[in-house]
Amino acid sequence: MTDIAEETPEQAGGETGAAIEALYLEERRFDPPPSFREQALVTDRSLYEQAEADWVGFWEAQARELDWFEPWEKALEWELPFAKWFVGGKLNVSHNCLDRHVAAGLGSRIAYYFEGEPGDRRTITYADLLADVQRFANVLQSLGVRRGDRVGIYMPMIPELPVAMLACARIGAAHSVVFGGFSPDALRDRMNDAEARVLVTADGGWRRGSVVHLKGNVDAALTEAPCVEHVVVVRRTGDEGGGPAPMVPGRDHWWHELMAAAEPSCDAAHLDSEELLYLLYTSGTTAKPKGIMHTTGGYLTHVASTHRYVFDLHPERDVYWCAADIGWVTGHSYIVYGPLANGATSVLYEGTPDFPDKDRWWSIIERYGVTTLYCAPTAIRTFMKWGSEYPGRHDLSSLKLLGSVGEPINPEAWMWYQEHIGGGRCPVVDTWWQTETGGIMISPLPGVTTCKPGSATFALPGIGAEVVDDAGRPVERGGGYLTLTRPWPGMLRGIYGDPERYRDTYWSRFEGRYFAGDGAKVDDDGYLWLLGRVDDVMNVSGHRVSTAEVESALVDHPAVAEAAVVGARDDTTGQAVVAFVTLKSGEEKSTERGEALRGHVAARIGPIARPKAVIFTDELPKTRSGKIMRRLLKDVADGRDLGDTTTLADPAVVEEIRKLAETRATEE
Ligand code: WTA
Repeated sequence: MTDIAEETPEQAGGETGAAIEALYLEERRFDPPPSFREQALVTDRSLYEQAEADWVGFWEAQARELDWFEPWEKALEWELPFAKWFVGGKLNVSHNCLDRHVAAGLGSRIAYYFEGEPGDRRTITYADLLADVQRFANVLQSLGVRRGDRVGIYMPMIPELPVAMLACARIGAAHSVVFGGFSPDALRDRMNDAEARVLVTADGGWRRGSVVHLKGNVDAALTEAPCVEHVVVVRRTGDEGGGPAPMVPGRDHWWHELMAAAEPSCDAAHLDSEELLYLLYTSGTTAKPKGIMHTTGGYLTHVASTHRYVFDLHPERDVYWCAADIGWVTGHSYIVYGPLANGATSVLYEGTPDFPDKDRWWSIIERYGVTTLYCAPTAIRTFMKWGSEYPGRHDLSSLKLLGSVGEPINPEAWMWYQEHIGGGRCPVVDTWWQTETGGIMISPLPGVTTCKPGSATFALPGIGAEVVDDAGRPVERGGGYLTLTRPWPGMLRGIYGDPERYRDTYWSRFEGRYFAGDGAKVDDDGYLWLLGRVDDVMNVSGHRVSTAEVESALVDHPAVAEAAVVGARDDTTGQAVVAFVTLKSGEEKSTERGEALRGHVAARIGPIARPKAVIFTDELPKTRSGKIMRRLLKDVADGRDLGDTTTLADPAVVEEIRKLAETRATEE
């Protein structure tokens, strides 16, 4: 989620096997603190009971919390694996996030406290946001964007980013936000796949005191993305860092100039519940990222409802801060759509947690009186490493609730978070979900659930989750595969342009079930413990990186013959990318070459995918049928004893690799 992991490598330990052991020993229990319960929205099992009695009816009740221009005729149409929610209903997401609050007299409520990394601050009310969104919706239309089109967004964490998203939603265009840390190649591929007509960006963004030249990346990407006709550029970093890339006449436009000329009002389009709200690309088990499709009515229902109940939202007094980047799904659902639909006041912070010092987050919490903090375990583990003196410098007593997302949170990190950030008085909600699920699926309800450190506890009301064995039989106690047993409103509607891949990827492994790609365990009390991915997707600092994508970037380098990539355990980042590389004959193995390959991957995909280590080997371990045995490489990378190697074509190869890895480890 945060990408601080890039700068904090090292460490070992905490692999899945050991985690399972540790979980068995986890006996600590945390009831909702009485002071929290007294004020909580939900303090009993009524929501669960309501949902168990009639789960479709439960979601209908949640949907009724939104404004609909026309009611739905049918709550759910389910033709496995294709779902439609609130069929026939008409609504608009930007109307629900903005107009209805302003109409209810809440125009002066703060939607975002924005803080830029250099320290600049802006306070944006719901009325401000509505005004900007209307203008920008008109800007998009003036550039030819129509209902049903796609708009690319590649921006830093500045208020213009949610404005651009909501403006798309207002006119029925789908956005495709690409995380600002992605490379020009990654941006190009996503723009082409979505056939985006307009791209919204900024000249640059601030990161640890330096300018990230987003517009330069855009220029590089667009040389091979002819679908993009116009680029709108927010002036953020201006003349700093060498100044902005030159504007291309006819194609590039300054945001502030277009906004100044735009008409101030734009009605929200009456959209069908199933109209495309956005695409968000995520890594899967192949090299090609998937454009995950989310639609309007069901998605907004899911994120608004879960945001309210999981974070026990009291919009009139809470200050909520999700410290993710809007470029990932967590930001889409829990910085933009969920909080705004609920009329919440949020913090939006542009930069890194250690600029100018390692207490930046805690100073933000103190300044705005943040009540709710939602972040990733990798950030928590980094803060643990930095030491409790940094949070100790600040008054964090405004905090009431803490959340975690993106990867399994180990009990030690959970405890540290609860104690040093939450002062022992805040419930900690560990929330499991995915880009594909749209919103939170498994999580405690903070006024109801007794928590165990490291467990995401139970499926939320209305959600069906079950752990199954290899044959798809439900597992009452013990480990297996996490599956979802029924449709839910925020579920992905498919993979853009590839319905077959959607069916194959998510619905073919276990009949009638959505398979999430995660392993999980059910304990004696029925609590769910997430154990990480069981497929070829790595989880680096809460970011999904596909082994196939990194391999394909490596073999794209002229010196590389073959590559195998695994996620090795890493105490701070969860997993770290380790690449085993065979060079073409005559190519030299050297530290510089390793560095060059790491840089090559970063340039092709983005810094988050940069391998932590490149290990050169003359051969990769393969089965007799020629399949690379990644399991063995993972064992090597994790420093584990090797299991059965008898199926290898040449067992000596893996011994050789192990020696190489050991030599590397002692050099470090
Ligand atoms: C992992 C992020 C354990 C999981 C919202 C999932 C988690 C992937 C948790 C989705 C959690 C997310 N405990 N693992 N609380 N939350 N994950 O699509 O492996 O970026 O499949 O969505 O992150 O990552 P994505």
